[in-house]
Amino acid sequence: MNIRKLVEAARRARANAYAPYSRYPVGAAVLAKSGKIYSGCNIENAAYPSGLCAERVAIFKAVSEGERELKAIAVVTRNGGSPCGACRQVFAEFAKSNAVYAIACTRGKPKLFTLVELLPERFGPEKLKQK
Ligand code: THU
Repeated sequence: MNIRKLVEAARRARANAYAPYSRYPVGAAVLAKSGKIYSGCNIENAAYPSGLCAERVAIFKAVSEGERELKAIAVVTRNGGSPCGACRQVFAEFAKSNAVYAIACTRGKPKLFTLVELLPERFGPEKLKQK
C-alpha cells in the first residue's frame, strides 16, 4: 500500500478546496480495493450545513463509481487536524477495522492509525441484520 502516494493525492486535492467561510482547506484521498485512488476537498456553502467535508466527498466519489471496499484514507490540513466523527462513521461503512487512516499536514510525514483506533465500537451495517 502506497501511503505516500495517497497523501500526495490528498495534498493536491486540498488545492481545490472551496472554503471561503472557515478558510480551513482540507484535502482527502481514499484508496479503494480496486487499487484506484479517489480524491476530494471540502466544499462549503453560504447555507453553512449544506457544505461537505473533504473525506466524504472522496468516499462518495469512490462509492458512486462502484467501489464498495476502501483500504485507506488520507486527510491533509494545514495543522494535522483530526478527522471529524461523521467522516469516520462514513468511512467505517466501507472499510474494515484495520483500514489505514493517514493524518497529515501540508508537509512532512503523516501520522498513521487504523480505523478501529479512531472509531472503536463502531455502529456498522451488521447490527441492522441482527434481530
Ligand atoms: N472539515 C473537513 O473537510 N474534514 C474534517 O474532518 C474536519 C472539517 C472541513 C469542514 C469545513 O469546511 C472546514 O473543514 C472547517 O470545519
